[in-house]
Parts: sequence; structure tokens; C-alpha cells
Amino acid sequence: MASTISGRRTFFTFLLICTFLSVSTIKVCEAQTKPPTAKGLSYTFYDKSCPKLESIIRKELKKIFKNDVGQAAGLLRLHFHDCFVQGCDGSVLLDGSASGPSEKDAPPNLTLRAEAFKIIEDLRRRLEKSCGRVVSCSDITALAARDAVFLSGGPEYEIPLGRRDGLTFATRNETLANLPAPSSNATTILNSLATKNLDATDVVALSGGHTIGIGHCNSFSDRLFPTQDPVMDKTFGRNLRLTCPTNTTTNTTVLDIRSPNTFDNKYYVDLMNRQGLFNSDQDLYTDKRTRGIVTSFAVNQSLFFDKFVFAMLKMGQLSVLTGKQGEIRANCSVRNADSKSFLTTVVGDMVEQIIQM
Ligand code: HEM
Ligand SMILES: *[C@@H]1O[C@H](CO)[C@@H](O)[C@H](O)[C@H]1NC(C)=O
Ligand SMILES: *[C@@H]1O[C@H](CO)[C@@H](O)[C@H](O)[C@H]1NC(C)=O
Ligand SMILES: *[C@@H]1O[C@H](CO)[C@@H](O)[C@H](O)[C@H]1NC(C)=O
Ligand SMILES: *[C@@H]1O[C@H](CO)[C@@H](O)[C@H](O)[C@H]1NC(C)=O
Ligand SMILES: *[C@@H]1O[C@H](CO)[C@@H](O)[C@H](O)[C@H]1NC(C)=O
Ligand SMILES: *[C@@H]1O[C@H](CO)[C@@H](O)[C@H](O)[C@H]1NC(C)=O
Ligand SMILES: *[C@@H]1O[C@H](CO)[C@@H](O)[C@H](O)[C@H]1NC(C)=O
Repeated sequence: MASTISGRRTFFTFLLICTFLSVSTIKVCEAQTKPPTAKGLSYTFYDKSCPKLESIIRKELKKIFKNDVGQAAGLLRLHFHDCFVQGCDGSVLLDGSASGPSEKDAPPNLTLRAEAFKIIEDLRRRLEKSCGRVVSCSDITALAARDAVFLSGGPEYEIPLGRRDGLTFATRNETLANLPAPSSNATTILNSLATKNLDATDVVALSGGHTIGIGHCNSFSDRLFPTQDPVMDKTFGRNLRLTCPTNTTTNTTVLDIRSPNTFDNKYYVDLMNRQGLFNSDQDLYTDKRTRGIVTSFAVNQSLFFDKFVFAMLKMGQLSVLTGKQGEIRANCSVRNADSKSFLTTVVGDMVEQIIQM
């Protein structure tokens, strides 16, 4: 009770300050805050070397999503997997990476959509035609995720660019260690993401990525078999058992039952109604540390959007390679042959010098 009152007082004080400040300086109170930009990245990185970069990607993805809106979810998840395992270096795209479609024995709960990989490589080819080989696969992945959010109804935002592509991919063990399982509870998720400097608000906001897309039965069958998770809404669970009659079916279902293809805050409304699909989602509403954040996003979509953008900017800059590190791949699924890699670096440097002149 006491904390509620003091919380209200703080909020009220904040409002007063806002009103006062807005007289002289407009926009002071808008959530303009961005996390610090990683060294080597910038919001104008390709302005001279590939001015049409963002419009080419936006236009292509608009076409693709019109045809199959599910691809937006696939691209958003691809960026998440890239960044969480060894940093946003495009390593997830390399043939042989543990979550890639080429990895035959990848755990099904890691499997990313094969089409997402094709879309990224197709964008790379178009960009090379327009600008030469200057844009990294990791930047393309980051921009595709950004556009996936916006084109599904989410917030529009700028992201810093200049990531370089890594030369190696993570081992299967490293991959599994960095991507928490959907059966995880909030404690596990909070601890896991804290190692990446993501706090409770970031965790809840990023989990809101599950406002679009689908999951396979085996990602949540532990909540249905042998008995239904008592936290789960009874009717919701009964319907899930119709879609997943056994714990071995390959069926899928939507992550957000209220608006499965729209990037909005309904995922948090699902959680408040005990209709979250994964334990890692639902436990955010059970755990005292995150419950209030879930509620605040469920009642205020613009608050969710602000916090989501902030957390995505953090996630999108995890352990990035910049400057002369890594390379610009000529094919997103394979690292360049050594000679080519050298050439790319030289060409890259020349481009940078020209920009500076
Ligand atoms: C916090 C820990 C997270 C866990 C445990 C988790 C787990 C999962 C699982 C198990 C799936 C379904 C895979 C399948 O069965 O096919 C999934 C799908 C998805 N995840 Fe997450 N995820 C997490 C965080 C994130 C983040 C941070 C994002 C992006 C911001 C994200 C975006 C997505 C999307 C868009 C899908 C749907 C993919 C599709 O339809 O192809 N997830 N996630
Ligand atoms: C990977 O992890 C498994 C199980 O945790 C372990 O048995 C195996 O030795 C690990 N492999 C490597 C190469 O570290
Ligand atoms: C994926 O599922 C397998 C078993 O189905 C489990 O051993 C593994 O821990 C899960 N991993 C992740 C990251 O979800
Ligand atoms: C969360 O999961 C971890 C690992 O499975 C377990 O040790 C811990 O007791 C769980 N915490 C809660 C509060 O359920
Ligand atoms: C897949 O789900 C549908 C309902 O969504 C259900 O009718 C069907 O029996 C399921 N198929 C299998 C193989 O489980
Ligand atoms: C699937 O369910 C059966 C019967 O309930 C059980 O014996 C088996 O261990 C389960 N398998 C998995 C992967 O959960
Ligand atoms: C919702 O959140 C925004 C911040 O994004 C804030 O400016 C606004 O006052 C909030 N609305 C309500 C009704 O609390
Ligand atoms: C890119 O590499 C993959 C895997 O080695 C190969 O199958 C594909 O044909 C290559 N694409 C191009 C355009 O060279």
C-alpha cells in the first residue's frame, strides 16, 4: 500500500515537472532516451555508401509480408538468435550454425524458418546490385527485424548500423547456453538476460516479440502432458490439447491468441488471462518482479512500444563487430574465402576513406 502511494506521488511529481519543462522546451518529456550507441556503429553509416539501403529493404519486405505475414515473425526471431549467441554478427546465418535450417539435428525448439535465411540473402543480393558489396548480413538482419516490427503494426524507429559479419559460428553448446528454453521460469530468464545487461523491463519488453508468430507443440507440451499446468487457463489448455493431441505432433499454434499477426500489446493481455503459450512467457505474470511490468504494458501500448524499442536497441548492439573486424560477406551463409576477405577489407577501407573526404 505504502509503495503504491509513494509510486503515485512520484508519478505526479513527474507530471508536474513535465508540464513545467514543456513550457520552455518541447519534447523534453517524451521518451527520447536511447541506450548508448556501440563504438563503431552510427545512425548515418550507409548514408553515402548505400543511400537506398533502407528503402530497398522496406519495399521488398512489404511485398513479402503482404503475401505471407508470418515471415515477419521469422525475421524478428532470426535477429534475436543472431544477437544472443556470440553477438549480432550474422553468425546465425552461416551454414552449420546450431540454429540454422541446415543443421539437421538442431533441437526443434531452435529451428528458425528456412525462408528467413533466403529473404536475408535475397536482400543482400539486391543491395549488392545497388551499392556494391558494402552492407553486412548482420545489418541486413537487424534492419529486417526492425521492419518486421513496423510493418506488423509496431513502432517505427531508427537503428544504428555498421555491424560487420563474423568469421565463425558458435558451437551447439554455446548456442543452447545462450538461448533460454521456453520451459524456463522468470528467475532463469531474468538471470540469463542479466548476463547480457538486460534488466527486468528489457526482459518483459523483449518477450513481447511473442506478439507475432507461431510455436511448435513440443515447445510447450510440457505444460499439457502428462497434466495441464494449473496456471494455464482451462479453456485455453483444452483447445491447445486439440491442436497438440500428443506430445509428438509437429503442429504449430499462434503465440498471441488475441491478435496473432499484429505487433501490439495484446500478448500482455494474454498473460494476464493466463493464456501465455510458453512457461517463460506466463511466468512473467506470476513472478512478483515482472508482474507489474506486464500489467503496465497491457494497459499502455505506447509504454510497451517505447520500452520495446529501447530494449531492441540494446539487444541489436550486443557484442557487435565494427571497423576492420570481421568482414562483409559475399554470401550470407558462408564466410568469404580468405583472399576475398582481404579484398573486401581493402575495398571497405577505400569506401570509408571516400566517405570521409
Ligand atoms: C526470453 C526468452 C525467449 C524464449 C524462451 C523464446 C522462445 C521461443 C520459442 C520456443 C519459440 C517457438 C519456436 C517453435 O516452436 O517453432 C519462439 C518463437 C518466436 N520468438 Fe521467442 N523466445 C524468447 C525471446 C524472444 C525475443 C527476445 C524475441 C524478439 C524480440 C522473440 C521473438 C520470437 C518470434 C517472433 C517468434 C515466432 C517465430 C516464427 O513464427 O517463426 N523471442 N520463441
Ligand atoms: C556439450 O554439452 C553436453 C551436455 O551438456 C556435454 O555432454 C558435451 O560434452 C558438451 N560438448 C562440448 C563440445 O562441450
Ligand atoms: C529444446 O528441447 C529439448 C528437448 O525437446 C531440450 O533438451 C532443450 O533444452 C531445449 N532447448 C531450448 C533452448 O529450448
Ligand atoms: C526456476 O527454475 C530453476 C531451474 O530450473 C529452479 O532451480 C528454480 O527453483 C525455479 N524457481 C522458481 C521460483 O520456481
Ligand atoms: C493439428 O491441429 C489441428 C487443429 O488445429 C487438429 O485438428 C489436428 O488433429 C492436429 N494434427 C495432429 C497431427 O496433431
Ligand atoms: C510423451 O508422452 C508419453 C506418454 O505420456 C511419455 O511417455 C513420453 O516420455 C513423452 N515424451 C516426451 C518427449 O515428452
Ligand atoms: C503511457 O505511456 C506513455 C509513455 O510511453 C506515457 O507518456 C503516457 O502518459 C502513458 N499513458 C497513461 C494513460 O498512463
Ligand atoms: C551461398 O552459399 C551457399 C552455401 O554454400 C550456396 O548453396 C549458395 O549457392 C551460395 N549462393 C550464391 C549466390 O553463391
